[in-house]
Parts: sequence; C-alpha cells; structure tokens
Amino acid sequence: MSRRCCVVLVPAPFQGHITPMLQLGAILQSKGFSIVVAHTMYNAPDPLNHSTFTFLPLPDEVVDFDNTYMNLLNILDTININCKSRFQGYLVQLMENVELHGEVVCVIYDAIMNFVDDVGNGLQLPTIVMRPFNCAHLRAHRYVLGLRSENCLPLPESQMEETVPDLHPFKFRDMPLLSNEIPDRIFKFLKTAHTIGSSCAIIWNTTDEIENHHLSILREDFQVPIFSIGPFHKMAPPTKTSLVEEDNNCIDWLDIQAPNSVLYVSLGSIVSMDDKELIETAWGLINSEQPFLWVIRDISVNVAKFNSQMPDGFLEIIGDRGCIVKWAPQKTVLGHSAVGGFWSHCGWNSTLESISEGVPMICRPDFGDQLINARYVTDVWNVGLKMEGIVDRENVEKTVRRLMVSVEGNDMRKKAAEMKHKCQESVREGGCSFRRLNELTEFISMLSS
Ligand code: UDX
Repeated sequence: MSRRCCVVLVPAPFQGHITPMLQLGAILQSKGFSIVVAHTMYNAPDPLNHSTFTFLPLPDEVVDFDNTYMNLLNILDTININCKSRFQGYLVQLMENVELHGEVVCVIYDAIMNFVDDVGNGLQLPTIVMRPFNCAHLRAHRYVLGLRSENCLPLPESQMEETVPDLHPFKFRDMPLLSNEIPDRIFKFLKTAHTIGSSCAIIWNTTDEIENHHLSILREDFQVPIFSIGPFHKMAPPTKTSLVEEDNNCIDWLDIQAPNSVLYVSLGSIVSMDDKELIETAWGLINSEQPFLWVIRDISVNVAKFNSQMPDGFLEIIGDRGCIVKWAPQKTVLGHSAVGGFWSHCGWNSTLESISEGVPMICRPDFGDQLINARYVTDVWNVGLKMEGIVDRENVEKTVRRLMVSVEGNDMRKKAAEMKHKCQESVREGGCSFRRLNELTEFISMLSS
C-alpha cells in the first residue's frame, strides 16, 4: 500500500459481536491499514488490549441491561438513535486530519449498527457490512421474513420437523423468530439488519470451505462482493477480546489432565441456566465421572447460593475432578490437548472456535442463530450431538458419556479433526479465506484512489 489508509470499525456492543470485529481489526492491521474503533460506552472494549488501535467512545445513554431478547433489541434501538451525531462528528474530524491516521477509506460496521450506513452515505464515505453470524442463518432469517410478510405465521406444530425447502437439512424448528407474537417493530429492525443499505461489500466470519453453497447463493442475491475470510480468529494474530477478565488458572488445571479427557462447559456471554438446570447439570457432570471445566458467569448465578444448593461433597469433587471459573480463556482452552468435548449453546464464535480445534460438541442451543449452528454441528458436519429434552441429571450423565467415552463420540472426534483440517486449509497461504483476504485488501485500498 503506497499511501496510508485508515479503516474505521463500528462493533455492536455484545461479546459475540465485539470479538469478531476486533479480530477483523487485527487482520486488517496486519495488512497495513491503520485502525480506528468507534464503540459504544456500554460494553466498551479495553483499549489497553489493543495499543495499536485508536478508540473513540460514543455516548449511547444505555441505562440498564438484562439478558432478555427484547431488552437487547431495546438497547440496539437506543444506540442506533443516540450514537449517530457523535459518530458523524468523529468521521468529519478523521477525514480532515489525514496526517494522524491516514486517509479514511471506509467504515466497516456490524450489521445491527445500522445508523452507520446513513452517516457514511451523508459523508460520501464507503461502508462495508461485517456479519458475525453464518450465511445459513441469514438465509433462514430471510425465509422467515418472507413467511411473515405472506401472513403464514404461526406454522402448525406438525410442520416443525419438516425440512425447509431450499434449506436442507435445516428444519422449520431451527428457523429463528417463527412466532407471530413478535412485534412489528422488531421485524422492521431485523429487516434492516438483513439488508446492506448502500454498503459496497460484505465481510463474513465464515469460509467457503464450510459454507460454499450458501455463499454462492448470497453472492448472486446481493450483487456486491462478499469476502468470506473466516474463521477470523485463525486469520488474525492472537488478540485479547474478552470484556470480562479471563481466569487463566484453569490452564494449570488442564495441564494435569489426561489428553481428550475434559468436557468444557460454557454457554457464551448471554445464555444462562436457571437454578434447577444448574443443579441437575452439576449432578449429571459428577455422575458421568468425566473431568469438567465449567464456566459459570457471575451475572448468571449468585455464588453463595450456588454453593449451598450443590450436591453434598460437590466442592470436594470439584477439587479433584472439576474446575469452575467465571470466565475462561476459551480459545486457549479449546486448543488444549486435555479438552475432548465442548458443551455449548452454539454461538457462532464458540462453534467456529470448537471446529477450528477439532473439538466435538454437545449442543444446547437457546435462541437466534444458535439452532442453525447446532444443526450444522449435528447433521451437516456430524461433529456433535444435541442435548435433547429436559436437562435432568440422567440426561446430562448419559449425553456426556455418549460424547466423551463412546465409540460414537470417538467417531465425532475424528470428524471434528477433519473440520479442523478444513479450517486450517482455508486460512493457509493459497487457501480460500487467505485468497479472499487478499482480494479484500485490494478492494479497500482501491476505494478512494
Ligand atoms: C451472541 C449470540 O448469543 C450468538 O448466538 C451469536 O452467534 C453471537 O452473538 P454469545 O452468546 O456470546 O454471542 O456466543 P459466542 O458467539 O459463542 O461468543 C462468545 C465469545 O466469548 C467466544 O468468542 C468465546 O471464546 C468467548 N468466551 C466465552 C470466552 O472467552 N470465555 C468464556 O468463558 C466464554
């Protein structure tokens, strides 16, 4: 790159969105771009973890937070209204002060931060959408939006196990937002989040190695370049993206466990278990007799209450066979040779991180894209099984043993190793994500020349 080019990133303020955006920043910086991150004050990333990026805080006026889906949407609404003018002010300054960061050539924004496209448009600055979920999920969403606009919702229960036309092997049960009780306001928002406004390209945290079919269809649909350059965390130099402090003591604990023996249990940053499920899970893990590393976030449980509700002797067993942390260095954990399985809610980052390390999964999806991701794991890649039905101790014990110590589980481990190989292939020199990244670098460099 002869002239210095600056890319402005706008992440959405949730862990599963901030992580891929910061990884994308590290990827683009490794290609010579200077990186500015305009972020909400709510769930702000820690600038100390990215000393070579410039951070610009956007006052958002988000006041409270709980994990309900409706509240997440309320937060987004507030942000999309309140951040616009300050963001515009920042961009004007950046465009006028070229000597500081280089020439601003584009803004890359998370698909749900839709105020950005308006601002970019007004300043005649190109914008690019970054999509942190997979392509199948977008296609599923579009399908449901279509059903809704044709007044076909709700669907009869009898249809739920059927395969969705054109979306094999996904079932109606896997589709997001099938209920007709979802308010119009939310559908309107989601509709916007699934288009690209005036953006000139899309960057996707996926790879042609695993989503070639859906990518080909979307490339025809969108008519703008789609750069599938994932898994981002394997394309970027390692970077610290956690909003919460990681407890690295669990790595010492993993170091003394046998290869492939440990089940890692984590539900990401939003999904949590209720008290009953938590206790049944504890019992099931103990009864399975497999070592486990379990993430229980402090916002999802009161620790004193947890300890008092646990089975007799649970804490002693923990000392011996289990390890509980509030937040783990997940990518290091999944790459550790002692970890042989991952019980996950199937967020897209967790799913990509698991297959990239060849770790088979127990899927317990909860909402949104997680059902689609779980179907990929169980029915497309065959690298995991679903925790079906009620989470009681018998079910947990049986499912854990199926994954960790059965012939079936071993077969899934072998398949997971093949997925790891595919991910490695995509990011190695000459691989499909590697090539697409070079195309993206060229594309961005040409934007204002
Ligand atoms: C959200 C949605 O819930 C999910 O469905 C969507 O795909 C992305 O946005 P989240 O639930 O947090 O994300 O899950 P996920 O996508 O898996 O992201 C969690 C991130 O936190 C991962 O990168 C994971 O490595 C990290 N993590 C999680 C840790 O570093 N430590 C932990 O202890 C738990």
